[in-house]
Amino acid sequence: MNERKENKTIELWEIDGLIERYRGKEGVLIPLLQDVQDMYGYVPEEAVKKISKELSIYPVKAYEVLTFYSQFHLRPRGRHTIKVCQGTACHVMGGREILNYFSEKLGVNTGGTTSDGMFSLERVACLGCCGIAPVVVIDDKFYGRVTVKKIDKILHKYREEADR
Ligand code: FES
Repeated sequence: MNERKENKTIELWEIDGLIERYRGKEGVLIPLLQDVQDMYGYVPEEAVKKISKELSIYPVKAYEVLTFYSQFHLRPRGRHTIKVCQGTACHVMGGREILNYFSEKLGVNTGGTTSDGMFSLERVACLGCCGIAPVVVIDDKFYGRVTVKKIDKILHKYREEADR
């Protein structure tokens, strides 16, 4: 896996390198797009154009894949990804309010990224730990029984860490 770029500069020669890895193989579109996303944190338009040309496919075919699988992102992502569970148990325990509060505090809609590039906000289906609903995951860290007060503390902690 490649190291993700923080500055989002797209270097087409790097994409050439990825394409080279799969040259002559079948069914390479998805792994190639995954590699691009690993590298940049999203799949830039330039990469889609380049890959489509190299694989002799229409860009729309690549976009079909990119929009079908929720793992793919077409825009730069925030440094941290906040996923707010909207499964049944979390919904009952106030998951919608939690999502709305994050949205209000961060000034972004679901699927968006804050203007400082710090957070991306997403909604997800059941995360498999309904016993601690409502649940929020930030990157790989799980937060259970989340309340509005807890959100303030959590966001403060991430901002403080970023300032160090
Ligand atoms: S519904 Fe949220 S963890 Fe199951």
